[in-house]
Amino acid sequence: MSEPIRFYYRGAVQSVADASPTQTILQFVRENMHCTGTKEGCAEGDCGACTVVIGEAKDGNTELKAVNSCIQFLPTLDGKALFTVEDLKQPDGELHPVQQAMVECHGSQCGFCTPGFVMSLWALYLKQEGRQEPLSRKEIDDALSGNLCRCTGYRPIIDAAQRMCELPKAGFDREAVSQALQALQRKEMFVYRQGGQTFYAPLTLEQLTKVRAEHPDAVILSGSTDVGLWVTKQMRNLGDIIYIGQVAELKTVTEKDGKLEIGAGVPLEEAYNLLCRHHEKELAELRQRFASLPIRNAGTLGGNVANGSPIGDSAPWLIALGAEVVLRSSAGRRVLPLEDFYLGYQKKDLQPGEFVEAVSVPLPRPGLRFRTYKLAKRFDQDISAVCAAFAITLEGNVIQSARIAYGGMAATSKRASKAEAALTGREWNEATLNAAAQMLEQDYAPLTDMRASSAYRMKTAQNLLRRFWLETRNDAPLSTEAVNVFACA
Ligand SMILES: Cc1cc2nc3c(=O)[nH]c(=O)nc-3n(C[C@H](O)[C@H](O)[C@H](O)COP(=O)(O)OP(=O)(O)OC[C@H]3O[C@@H](n4cnc5c(N)ncnc54)[C@H](O)[C@@H]3O)c2cc1C
Ligand code: FES
Ligand code: FES
Repeated sequence: MSEPIRFYYRGAVQSVADASPTQTILQFVRENMHCTGTKEGCAEGDCGACTVVIGEAKDGNTELKAVNSCIQFLPTLDGKALFTVEDLKQPDGELHPVQQAMVECHGSQCGFCTPGFVMSLWALYLKQEGRQEPLSRKEIDDALSGNLCRCTGYRPIIDAAQRMCELPKAGFDREAVSQALQALQRKEMFVYRQGGQTFYAPLTLEQLTKVRAEHPDAVILSGSTDVGLWVTKQMRNLGDIIYIGQVAELKTVTEKDGKLEIGAGVPLEEAYNLLCRHHEKELAELRQRFASLPIRNAGTLGGNVANGSPIGDSAPWLIALGAEVVLRSSAGRRVLPLEDFYLGYQKKDLQPGEFVEAVSVPLPRPGLRFRTYKLAKRFDQDISAVCAAFAITLEGNVIQSARIAYGGMAATSKRASKAEAALTGREWNEATLNAAAQMLEQDYAPLTDMRASSAYRMKTAQNLLRRFWLETRNDAPLSTEAVNVFACA
């Protein structure tokens, strides 16, 4: 007999025992709860029409984040709180300031995207509560990076984001939510069975290791920003699922021996923000351009690494920095250089019963020059055609060590060993750069696909190496803006 999925929604604890383990939250709110404010546009995390806010108990507080409900499975809500646009109605029936601001600023035309924008804005509204200084344009753009509108245009919506903070405040009873969440926390692993499928949600590393050993063929589910699409787009039956989003140890970050060990369950937004503290200049733009805020709120760094897509954005810079992947099974821990984890297209060195426990990232060292660049057709919410990462250590002007990795150039994120050899021990000058750029033609034979042609990929890979040189050479560094124009021309 299975326990029901329990979560807080519409001011009460909901208990669901008859949903398929891969029913999405979007399907549930629309079809079971008849709350049809939340819309389905793309069913793949791209448009934001389905944006909801999820609340989780964290360190005695309630953490509230916007996510895409179209790719999140209902059992992952167990022990959490869900908020949809229906929750914004004020007790006196009035509109919430977020909605009022959208009306005043003419932020809606056909209205299909509007509930999604409103929920992204509500998450931002809650985040800035109690703050004196106004929201910056960058904060607003980031909060709305996952919402598309085909008719209104974004300026009135951005105006609404500023206006919402000027209107009389609306209350939100955090205490009631927090108490409900406390009461929903489980002491034992949640096991949910329906229609021949089982959904396991272990709470500890020990439970995860055990359940993984017992079910080596079950699908590991983390932030669901890849796996969700296997169901909504590929219509796959996932069979049994092991959800790792409740495992406390996987959400920790530790700094030791010059390395940052980031648990596999740490969300991308948190992981990138932490890493930006050490590599602000190098990683800030990639963080902003990695999908959208709702995707980064749900997706994890561990999932990005474990998924191992050749066009994933984290692997190139992690490899360039010399990161390691920490694997665990009932046989214990195994640590591999990340580049060795990728054996071929969609093939990883992951033994039966093993999973990714953490990613270990070396902290900056003296003499390190590091950059990563993403080339995609759009700035926000787009997958890379080419993603490049370069890390060299200079002593004076001599390159002591070089690590280069590209995404989009081979079947895996792969090091450019010949170009690295052309750099190591040489002066960091244009002749060395040109020699290394030439070697890239021996390191890679990129594909032509819908994102880019083979020739484009090779040319831009070489240009990005040049850009790295322009930005990091010792003499006469150019401003980033000037280099951007040069590199994109
Ligand atoms: C709209 C959209 C935009 C995106 N944009 C980008 C982008 O710009 N750049 C980019 O790189 N990616 C992008 N992605 C892909 C995705 O967001 C990332 O790959 C994300 O990091 C996956 O993490 P997750 O936690 O959601 O993984 P999940 O979807 O839960 O899992 C992904 C894979 O990893 C496995 N897995 C997860 N965790 C573990 C573990 N601990 N041990 C072993 N196996 C594990 C799963 O079984 C699955 O095979 C995008 C996705 C969407 C939907
Ligand atoms: S329906 Fe488009 S992001 Fe969910
Ligand atoms: S108002 Fe029509 S899609 Fe945004």
